[in-house]
Amino acid sequence: MTRPEIRQITEDEKQIQERYIASVKEILPHSLKYNIVTLGCQMNVHDSEVMAGMLDEMGMTMCENREDADLIIYNTCCVRENAENKALGNVIWLKELKAVKPDLIIGVGGCMTQQPGVIERIKVMYPFIDLAFGTHNMYKLPEMIYRLIAKRQRVFEYDTSDGTICEGLPVRRNSSFSAYINIMYGCNNFCTYCIVPYVRGRERSREQQAILDEAKALRDQGVKEIMLLGQNVNSYQGGGTRFAELLYQINRLGIPRIRFMTSHPKDISPELIACFSELEHLCKHLHLPVQAGNNDILRAMNRRYTREAYIEKVKDIRRVCPDIGLTSDIIVGFPGETPEQFEDTMSLVEQVRFDAAFTFVYSPREGTIAAKLPDHTTAEEKSQRIQRLIALQQSITSDVCESMIGTVQEVLVEGVSARDDHMICGKTGRSHMVNFEGDRDLIGRFARVRIVSAGKSTLRGQLID
Ligand code: SAH
Ligand code: SF4
Ligand code: F3S
Repeated sequence: MTRPEIRQITEDEKQIQERYIASVKEILPHSLKYNIVTLGCQMNVHDSEVMAGMLDEMGMTMCENREDADLIIYNTCCVRENAENKALGNVIWLKELKAVKPDLIIGVGGCMTQQPGVIERIKVMYPFIDLAFGTHNMYKLPEMIYRLIAKRQRVFEYDTSDGTICEGLPVRRNSSFSAYINIMYGCNNFCTYCIVPYVRGRERSREQQAILDEAKALRDQGVKEIMLLGQNVNSYQGGGTRFAELLYQINRLGIPRIRFMTSHPKDISPELIACFSELEHLCKHLHLPVQAGNNDILRAMNRRYTREAYIEKVKDIRRVCPDIGLTSDIIVGFPGETPEQFEDTMSLVEQVRFDAAFTFVYSPREGTIAAKLPDHTTAEEKSQRIQRLIALQQSITSDVCESMIGTVQEVLVEGVSARDDHMICGKTGRSHMVNFEGDRDLIGRFARVRIVSAGKSTLRGQLID
């Protein structure tokens, strides 16, 4: 086997990019307006914040409306077929926009373009796309933009390494009170259905000190909540530090709320479980994707735990922290899943009682092991299964919400309610969304709220002075 190649981007390489930032700033005829469209998970949301940080430093300005932009970048996802279709559908729409606005620059980055062969296809098939790059070379955005603008070239950047770590890139954060911190990148688990290890590279953890410095700076800016990000945060091992130790260190900084995602059940250690009772700033919420409830399917998925081991871990966690909110991801219709095996998923959901679950119909991804497995279940059967699963989870979610009525919750106010702009909303530590009447000045602050009623998946509250 060849040695994995993971590259820490050196100071020299970073300085080169800083020089490109300065050069772009000099040659820009006027302040270009940019818009980044983000598809996919939190990882991509944070990557877009970093791209925006770099574009800001080049003297560009962000604009809300895609139609007003001089530069549009799509940060793509490919975890399921519909994610890819969404990206491609959007990009085709841009072709029409470019027909009326020939100077528009169109870029595509992210997970979809990290897949082998995709950039080559874009180059040939989509002549209106000016720029394409993957996940490992995003830090080179300044150089790519320079070549685009100064040399008037289409730019296609490949990076076939196993991944990079680049510290100290500028970030333009979407929120002033809630922030993402990436603590590790990539995934080594190779669940047989999943494309992520192929497009995000091998696992690599940031140094503990770099993470603590970032967290301290955020605390000093008044950030109230941080979310530690990684494909498997609990396999973090920066410089020999384990994830639970990192949580202890971060807890000491005094940021009111700490969250993390995603955790792999096989890496839930007793030390990590203990954190839920010992760390006062750690939110009582754990996203712990189970994927399936049948042992043969779990084995075929290469998940490396059994149904029984998962349920045992859940018991251990609830013993330490009885009011923790557990959420999950579940896949229906993995190749060969029989009706009986699907019933095992249903019974696990009934037994564990998640606060909420994201449910997906299996989507074959080229290059993964499962994509080659025979699959005789019809699309209709899969659709029936997922509908039953969603109905079951909804009834559990609404029971959980109902059990909150009468309790007093601390809510970090995020903004104005989506459905009613007379109301404001925010999440409890356990991650339940609460809508209530209150002043918009509360946005970005904590509020004590009494829960008065429950909807299907959200709560209604009353502000306590
Ligand atoms: N690293 C995380 C999440 C990865 S992707 C984890 O391990 O849990 C988010 C979710 O997408 C997965 O948990 C899985 O439920 C789902 N998913 C991944 N690949 C999929 C596929 N090929 N078809 C359907 N769902 C998929
Ligand atoms: Fe994909 Fe599995 Fe890695 Fe999660 S742990 S990113 S599901 S391979
Ligand atoms: Fe999608 Fe990439 Fe995230 S494939 S789910 S954006 S890691």
